[in-house]
Amino acid sequence: MTSFDHTKYTPFQPVVIENRTWPDQEITKAPIWSSVDLRDGNQALVEPMTVEQKKQFFALLVDVGFKEIEVGFPAASQLDFDFVRWLIEENKVPDDVYIQVLTQARPELIARTYESLKGAKKAIVHVYNSTSKTQREQVFRLGKDGIKEIAVKGAECVKEHAAKHPETEWVFQYSPESFTGTETDFAVEVVNAVADVWQPTPDNKIIINLPATVEVATPNRFADQIEYFCRNVKQRDNMIISLHTHNDRGCGVAAAELGLMAGADRIEGTLLGNGERTGNMDVVTMAMNMYSQGVDPELVLSDMDRIISVVQACTLLQVHPRHPYAGELVFTAFSGSHQDAIKKCLANQTADKPWDVAYLPIDPTDVGRSYQEVIRVNSQSGKGGIAYTLEQEYGLALPRWLQVEFSPIVQKFAEIDGGVVDAQSMKKLFEDSFMTGSTPYQLGKYDLTKDDIDTVNAELIGSENVQISGNGNGALSAFSTALGEHFGMRIDIIQYQEHALTVGSDAQAIAYVQANIDGDRFNGVAIHNDIVSASIQAVLATVNQKIA
Ligand code: KIV
Ligand code: ZN
Repeated sequence: MTSFDHTKYTPFQPVVIENRTWPDQEITKAPIWSSVDLRDGNQALVEPMTVEQKKQFFALLVDVGFKEIEVGFPAASQLDFDFVRWLIEENKVPDDVYIQVLTQARPELIARTYESLKGAKKAIVHVYNSTSKTQREQVFRLGKDGIKEIAVKGAECVKEHAAKHPETEWVFQYSPESFTGTETDFAVEVVNAVADVWQPTPDNKIIINLPATVEVATPNRFADQIEYFCRNVKQRDNMIISLHTHNDRGCGVAAAELGLMAGADRIEGTLLGNGERTGNMDVVTMAMNMYSQGVDPELVLSDMDRIISVVQACTLLQVHPRHPYAGELVFTAFSGSHQDAIKKCLANQTADKPWDVAYLPIDPTDVGRSYQEVIRVNSQSGKGGIAYTLEQEYGLALPRWLQVEFSPIVQKFAEIDGGVVDAQSMKKLFEDSFMTGSTPYQLGKYDLTKDDIDTVNAELIGSENVQISGNGNGALSAFSTALGEHFGMRIDIIQYQEHALTVGSDAQAIAYVQANIDGDRFNGVAIHNDIVSASIQAVLATVNQKIA
């Protein structure tokens, strides 16, 4: 007998809506954003934020560009009360920013809330009560009329207090809490009643916030609820319809996106999604989703590392390495084929072309990440990633044939080492494998005579120095002949490539050589100011490997 029994749950009862229009809508404009980090996010923390942390977080929210910031629940928390007072008394709220505070629809709490807001330039008073069937029947033990009355009384109280402080620019906000668990017709009825009290106008709108306090269905059902609500509520044109989704089914962002398509104007959420249980809707993800579609999110998220650092410092929660757009690994490719595709696309990408890079929905540099992080090499990586790293970090443009040779060496190293092979280790591995032009023999003095046929005379320095000489068609061929004759080997150069490493007076060149020596293949690499010296040293490197 198991307690894992799905029959104890009942499916969500969707609202019936005909000819829904939201599936054909597109998000082409940013919503009004409201951050609830300092209220809903804070309420969900194991250790609520200190005043200092709230100050730091508030500064971040202002810099990111929020114009509406829910700063706390001052009637429920002395710390929140003090923080609101500090913001107002110290004049910390920019003129174009509304601070928002939450209160339950209870007269004594509303009174205390207004106390906290004395002297504010602009404020949103956010009043809520629960309207769902579950809460009505089991928590409040009230019928629909009783619940509606709480909302209406709260709305009246909010209005009365505001009238006593005309020096503040007030905006009223109402949330039928647990909206997703409320019969949508009843939510409309309660909101109509609240709007009748507040009497908004097109120039003085009220905010109606529809929360998925608990996410209970697929996002399309939520969008249906929003479209239905917008169609049926009485004073739609006098309202800003706001959404406040939570992430219980993992679809908080999707629900907000579809809800926006269904007619909402405003979105509440938190940076990186902290919030009750599985979190609030993540504003970073939703805004970056818009950004990646060419829509200005009207928030500045370019300094992602600062956002992460402040959020982590204030919430004491770590950002997951796979968190969309922000996690440490979200722009990183380990797989060889992905690395190869990214490398090719990045090489094609120019500033004048729309972004079109396989596996990278956005340009990592837009959020302060570097291309170095894009390609990280481990035992699953292929030659593309290895070549990319060596080129980016050290300017080594490995020819394809050498990439093919080097890749299994790196993979083997990664398997033994068990992790990511950083650029430095990769360079060392490269040098140890191919830049073997000094042991057992090193190139000493040499001269090259160019004629119909080229002649090389060279000294090799080792445990005992040797003189070699040979002829050939070009320096490489002459030097290979000289080496072959001296050591009794047959040396055929199969591949050769060179390129400049640096520009300017101390420009260096790198030569890559692949030689077949007595039937075995060896790869040699050498760097020198002079390309001929680099080339013959690369040949010597192959012979040294054969001797070793
Ligand atoms: O999740 C919720 O319903 C809330 C309300 C107070 C808006 O946080
Ligand atoms: Zn919430």
